Amino acid sequence: MENALNGQTVIITGITDASSLALSIAKECKNQGAQLLCTGLGRTPHHKNVSENGLAYLEKTYSDFVKTVQTELGQEIKTYALDVGIQESIDDFASLLKKEGISVNGLLHSIAMDKTIRQGKVKPIMDVTRDEFMDAMNISAFSLLALTKALYQQSLLQKKSSIIALSYLGAEKIASHPYKNIGMAKAALERLVKELAWELGKTDGIQVNAIRFSAYTASKAGGAIEGLAAAVAEAEEKSPLGNAIPQDLADEVVYLFRKNNRITGEIRNVDGGYHIRG
Ligand SMILES: NC(=O)c1ccc[n+]([C@@H]2O[C@H](COP(=O)([O-])OP(=O)(O)OC[C@H]3O[C@@H](n4cnc5c(N)ncnc54)[C@H](O)[C@@H]3O)[C@@H](O)[C@H]2O)c1
Repeated sequence: MENALNGQTVIITGITDASSLALSIAKECKNQGAQLLCTGLGRTPHHKNVSENGLAYLEKTYSDFVKTVQTELGQEIKTYALDVGIQESIDDFASLLKKEGISVNGLLHSIAMDKTIRQGKVKPIMDVTRDEFMDAMNISAFSLLALTKALYQQSLLQKKSSIIALSYLGAEKIASHPYKNIGMAKAALERLVKELAWELGKTDGIQVNAIRFSAYTASKAGGAIEGLAAAVAEAEEKSPLGNAIPQDLADEVVYLFRKNNRITGEIRNVDGGYHIRG
């Protein structure tokens, strides 16, 4: 495919640093002619009652994100602070795009957070609290609906747009490493993809799909998961084609971002075929 996304504007969420899967995807979208709008977790006027340490973390996270985007993608790429846990932050983002006269053809949801994964340990499901469960659901699953809704209500999503969420086999099965609480959120995310595909396909020809990618230890989110390195090695052995790499994922996202596809409500596997193994 060459210039497959010429003339398209796509929102890329979830870049933290050079190791983020969203960065590999953003690079390929840019190579294929897309104009990028990148959002990163950062401090917003709506962060109230946050400790000094919390605010410092948000500021550092945002400045690392901007530096990564400018170095890896170019100074001209637009960046926006967005915390999907705060509705006002999502609404501000959509309002800003509206004010800038931007409408979009694509949205990449590459966001996950689970506080039960800490310092290389994953809490057993029986120890997960109501707040931890709700938090993971809110940030990792509901955020897809919240973002989509905000863009849709402000008429920012063009007809035949394409929305893509990143998921993992652990949404469906007990993985060979602990995935636990975040697995519930990924299951909800995938179910949400199907509901959105139905409603938005009917009304606006918008496609909504999810991609389950191979386990990947290099990113911040992946690196935090207990036992993931061993799982990656095992999957490499068991997958007919070996583990997929970020470029494989980026190529699939570009494919699904193309206009006039008739592909929606899919949970696609980009994992070298690992999912077919028992
Ligand atoms: N690494 C893997 O093994 C793997 C495999 C399959 C799917 N995925 C999925 O890919 C996506 C990207 O993960 P990654 O591996 O690139 O790690 P990553 O840590 O680079 O990306 C996770 C992103 O979520 C963002 N985020 C967390 N809370 C947020 C909030 N409140 N508001 C806005 N953004 C928030 C983080 O800032 C970060 O950019 C995730 O959905 C992840 O579950 C990862």
